[in-house]
Amino acid sequence: MSKSTFKLHGQLLAFVIRDGYKVKYLRVAVENKELWVKLPKKVRKALDPRLTPGCYLKIKGIQKLQKTGKTDFTAKSVKLVNATPSERPQATPRRDKAQARILVCGKSACRKRGGQQLCNALEAKLSDRGLEDHVQIKTTGCLKACKKGPNMIVMPDKTHYRQVEVHEAAAIVEEHFADQQPAVAQSRSDRAAVLNAASERLVNVNS
Ligand code: FES
Repeated sequence: MSKSTFKLHGQLLAFVIRDGYKVKYLRVAVENKELWVKLPKKVRKALDPRLTPGCYLKIKGIQKLQKTGKTDFTAKSVKLVNATPSERPQATPRRDKAQARILVCGKSACRKRGGQQLCNALEAKLSDRGLEDHVQIKTTGCLKACKKGPNMIVMPDKTHYRQVEVHEAAAIVEEHFADQQPAVAQSRSDRAAVLNAASERLVNVNS
């Protein structure tokens, strides 16, 4: 396991809350990748209360490369920065609706863990929102995380969700595809509450 320091400048996407109130990770967008940065207790206590999703941060810390190839990031300091417009990442191009799809692992380990019920719940939500013609659900081969099923990837964001609960399907559809048709009134905070739980298990396949 190799260890080194890191410095990054990115945009805060969300807080990952554990035990009901502890901010355990920050989800940060850095050059089109999403990183999860762990907050030790000391750093958590020193967090700037002005931090909100969308703000820009400078984070320093330690990164460890695991045997699995995954890199863990742990913050030593988190600073709020006022990015000038030229420093801000380019806006993400609007998604091509034709590419919108949800890939759900169709192999046995994921099916045993509720993959089929998850597909049903996703279909029901898409139908409910009138999105069944815009977003395809497809089953895939093994996504190499069998013990953490059911697994799925939302395209074109390439966002990989693990251990998805059936009741989280609706919030995930809202999060990724709410802009595909006139919005149905559902508060973002309602969605965020459910997504916080799901996003604790989220891995961006780009990272
Ligand atoms: S069976 Fe679903 S990830 Fe392997």
